[in-house]
Amino acid sequence: MVSSFSFAPFVFLLLVIGGTARPFYPLPGKGDDGSRRPLQTFRPYNVAHRGSNGEIPEETSQAYLRAIEEGADFIETDILSSKDGVLICFHDVTLDNTTDIAKYKEFANRKRTYEVQGNNTTGFFTVDFTLKELKSLRVNQRFSFRDQQYNGKFQIITFEEFINIALDAPRVVGIYPEIKNPVLINQYVKWSDGKRFEDKFVETLQKYGYKGSYLSKDWLKQPAFVQSFAPTSLVYISNKTELPKILLIDEVDIPTQDTNQSYWEITSDTYLDYIKQYVVGIGPWKDTIVPVVNNYTTNPSDLVARAHARNLQVHPYTYRNENQYLHFNFSQDPYNEYDYWINKIGVDGLFTDFTGSLHNFQEWTSPNHRDDMIESELLHKIALLVSPYE
Ligand SMILES: *[C@@H]1O[C@H](CO)[C@@H](O)[C@H](O)[C@H]1NC(C)=O
Ligand SMILES: *[C@@H]1O[C@H](CO)[C@@H](O)[C@H](O)[C@H]1NC(C)=O
Ligand SMILES: *[C@@H]1O[C@H](CO)[C@@H](O)[C@H](O)[C@H]1NC(C)=O
Ligand SMILES: *[C@@H]1O[C@H](CO)[C@@H](O)[C@H](O)[C@H]1NC(C)=O
Ligand SMILES: *[C@@H]1O[C@H](CO)[C@@H](O)[C@H](O)[C@H]1NC(C)=O
Ligand SMILES: *[C@@H]1O[C@H](CO)[C@@H](O)[C@H](O)[C@H]1NC(C)=O
Ligand SMILES: *[C@@H]1O[C@H](CO)[C@@H](O)[C@H](O)[C@H]1NC(C)=O
Repeated sequence: MVSSFSFAPFVFLLLVIGGTARPFYPLPGKGDDGSRRPLQTFRPYNVAHRGSNGEIPEETSQAYLRAIEEGADFIETDILSSKDGVLICFHDVTLDNTTDIAKYKEFANRKRTYEVQGNNTTGFFTVDFTLKELKSLRVNQRFSFRDQQYNGKFQIITFEEFINIALDAPRVVGIYPEIKNPVLINQYVKWSDGKRFEDKFVETLQKYGYKGSYLSKDWLKQPAFVQSFAPTSLVYISNKTELPKILLIDEVDIPTQDTNQSYWEITSDTYLDYIKQYVVGIGPWKDTIVPVVNNYTTNPSDLVARAHARNLQVHPYTYRNENQYLHFNFSQDPYNEYDYWINKIGVDGLFTDFTGSLHNFQEWTSPNHRDDMIESELLHKIALLVSPYE
């Protein structure tokens, strides 16, 4: 905190002396010649859940660009498929809640009922629309209490478009794509050569050069975590890519979609011992680690300790600024919530709807080492500039 405040006057001085305001980092789209600021790896990861979706409709280019601007380490997305087998970034299997699909008379007869994770769900499913049709829709804000001004403005993007946003970022920004609803996608979408959804998912990552194990040289150049709620999808791709994998863990009453295992089964010691061969960590719903009763947090479970004992990272979801999501113990202050999870529970990454808030918290409490280095370089330059006038 102290250093960033004392830094400001020097930046100002440098700008005055230099005459023109030059960016400190290369401009976007300059490619990676090794000069882009690397991913920070010394503090818990700021994972921008569906982009900066607290501000801008989820999983749109604009939500991801905003998250990058606000300091995301990783941009997170859900991968589903169009009818013609193009992988897209979209959370729900139906278009109903986050697009303007209801406005299109030509699509009115596409409503279907499919069984999704054991429940019959009715709506307009992405798997019944071609990419071209999906592109004709516009995305809306999911929650009525969030900013509605962007409704109807932005398109659904493809997995490839999402990857390009990360690769074009002015610093190294990782990606965190989810193999979403693989059971449903493999049931309704067929690819040539008998390929599965998971094959297409990994091929897309490979096409853009994503490879390597956690913290390897290749990985640090283009960091990626692959996440899924379906353990068999992660095991299936384990021979196809070394990229680090995260097993997502749902609410305690929701069984896994592929293996029909309970929460208690997949968080048992035996299961963690098994799955650690395939994954580098777990992504649990945060209220299952710190159970909530009447809006108050209760004592944390031992899941984080048991995961860490096996060298598994823990990246819980989802942190949200709004009062209605903040348990009373945090005094309606999201910084208090981050302080608790980072410094008391000791998690390794956090999925947040408000990347900017998490980034500010981390900068104020744990400044980026790399920034410190740039700061000292700048001070040195300033000293050289100033010395002739002394
Ligand atoms: C859409 O929103 C309604 C009302 O909030 C909810 O009941 C339903 O589960 C949502 N559908 C999906 C697919 O999330
Ligand atoms: C399915 O529906 C039941 C009853 O409405 C609900 O309790 C359960 O959480 C739903 N399961 C999923 C996976 O959404
Ligand atoms: C879903 O609907 C079909 C057709 O009506 C029915 O056969 C099936 O049992 C239903 N599934 C569930 C989980 O309710
Ligand atoms: C991965 O490959 C090895 C060696 O070919 C094989 O024994 C193993 O069953 C494969 N694992 C999966 C999950 O496909
Ligand atoms: C999943 O497991 C539960 C509990 O063991 C069982 O009641 C249910 O029938 C199973 N569902 C399927 C689709 O196998
Ligand atoms: C949260 O606040 C409630 C009510 O004051 C208290 O009983 C509970 O122990 C607190 N939770 C934790 C984890 O301290
Ligand atoms: C407290 O929790 C309940 C149940 O989750 C929720 O419906 C209610 O809105 C919460 N109350 C407040 C004041 O946040």
